[in-house]
Amino acid sequence: MRRNLVIGNWKMNLDYVEAIHLVQQLGILHRSLGPDHTDVVVAPPFVDLRSVTSVIEADRLAIQVAAQHAHHRESGAYTGEVSVGMLKRLGVKYVIVGHSERRQGFAMTDDVVSATVDSVLASGMTPVVCCGESMEVREEGRAEEFVSAQIVSALGGVKPKHKGSVVIAYEPIWAIGSGQAADPDVVRAMLDVIRGATPGEIRDDTQILYGGSVTSENARELMVASNADGFLVGGASLRADEFVGIIAAVEDCYRK
Ligand code: PGA
Repeated sequence: MRRNLVIGNWKMNLDYVEAIHLVQQLGILHRSLGPDHTDVVVAPPFVDLRSVTSVIEADRLAIQVAAQHAHHRESGAYTGEVSVGMLKRLGVKYVIVGHSERRQGFAMTDDVVSATVDSVLASGMTPVVCCGESMEVREEGRAEEFVSAQIVSALGGVKPKHKGSVVIAYEPIWAIGSGQAADPDVVRAMLDVIRGATPGEIRDDTQILYGGSVTSENARELMVASNADGFLVGGASLRADEFVGIIAAVEDCYRK
């Protein structure tokens, strides 16, 4: 049985002082909720990682940390980049790979996404592989073909031993930050396509999340009707009460 998973992607928000404050608040609310079936992860900016992991260790919080991006090479002349080895050393457990904001704004190609997935897996961390189509692609009727090609490319190097070590997030670009989540039926259909495109060896054990304007208001309906294993949350993860509201809704929907 797959566990539920909720990841908060803080994007380029919160300096390290603000990040400490948020993870402390989140820790208190999370501890009182005490979810049994839902894993919780936060993805702060690089410069906050050490502070956030320190709070988690000191307060013994059952929260894991993700990085928002990594470079696929181990080291070298890549100004401004961070390697998976550096992240692992900081106690990071997950790395978001190929978020649409990286693909679009920083020219991250399918090949680089795939190389990064391989590098994250080789380090023993879990890649959170993002996929999703633009509105233009959807209107052309190519959404399923487009997303499944992204998955086939990203997971080309995955081996049977990586069972349970890959997470996929379906995030239609048109739903991200729009305030309007995708229709649960649209999500459900795409999650089936994504599971079908996932290599057979890891298919049943891969958690597939939805992301795009998830809130504590719509989380329950999206969970029930879309068959997702949880969410990748952007804006709504920046407030502890709102994020914990999403975690509570996800926990309630665990399919026992
Ligand atoms: P959003 O972002 O929840 O603010 O729409 C989701 C994401 O980009 O991961």
